[in-house]
Amino acid sequence: MTTKPFVIEPTQDAEVIIHAALPGLADVEQWISREKLTFLLDRGLVIAFLAYGQPKLDLPTGVIMGGLEEEGRVWIEVLSVHPSYRRLGVATALMEELRSQAQAIQARGLMVDLDDDNYQALKFYKSVGFKKVGFVNHYYYDGSKAIILFCPLAANSPGFPHRL
Ligand SMILES: CC(C)(COP(=O)(O)OP(=O)(O)OC[C@H]1O[C@@H](n2cnc3c(N)ncnc32)[C@H](O)[C@@H]1OP(=O)(O)O)[C@@H](O)C(=O)NCCC(=O)NCCS
Repeated sequence: MTTKPFVIEPTQDAEVIIHAALPGLADVEQWISREKLTFLLDRGLVIAFLAYGQPKLDLPTGVIMGGLEEEGRVWIEVLSVHPSYRRLGVATALMEELRSQAQAIQARGLMVDLDDDNYQALKFYKSVGFKKVGFVNHYYYDGSKAIILFCPLAANSPGFPHRL
C-alpha cells in the first residue's frame, strides 16, 4: 500500500491561511482583513483546509478556502500549493476535503473565478469536475477578465434546500 506524501487538516486559523497562501501568490489580505476572516471562520461561514508534507513540517504546503454563499454555493476564494509541492495531487486532495465538507452542509455546488489567462489552474479545475459557466469582463482590480467555473454536488436532489 502506498502512503501519500502529505496530510490534509482543517483549520480555523486566519493567520496560517494568509501565510500558507502567499507562496502561491494568493494575497488574501488584499481582499479580506485578518479580523474579518477570523470572524467568518469562527462562525463556520468559511471552510478551510491545509496540506502538510509527510513527515509534517511546521509550514503548510497548500491551502484551500471556500466561503458559504446565501444561495447555497461554496465559492472557492483561495487555492494555493507551494511551487515545490505541485503536481503531487495536493490540490486534488484539498478539493476533495472541501467538497466533502460542502456536501455535509448540503451546499448545491462549488464555484470559483479565475483570471482568464490562468491556464494551469483552469486545467486543474477541469480535472476535478468543474465546468465553465461564464465570463465577466473587468472583474479584477487590474481590469482583467474572469472565467467562472461551477461544479455541482451530488446532494443536489429533490427536497434539497435552496438556502444554507
Ligand atoms: C493550480 C494549483 C492549485 C494546482 O495544484 P497541484 O497540487 O499542483 O495540482 P494537482 O497535483 O492536484 O493536479 C491535478 C491535475 O490538475 C492538472 N494540473 C495541475 N497543475 C497543472 C499545470 N501546471 N499544467 C497543466 N495541468 C495541471 C493536471 O491534470 C493534474 O494531474 P496530473 O498531475 O496527473 O497531470 C497550483 O498550480 C497553484 O497553486 N497555482 C497558483 C495559484 C492558483 O493559480 N490558484 C488557483 C486560483 S484559485
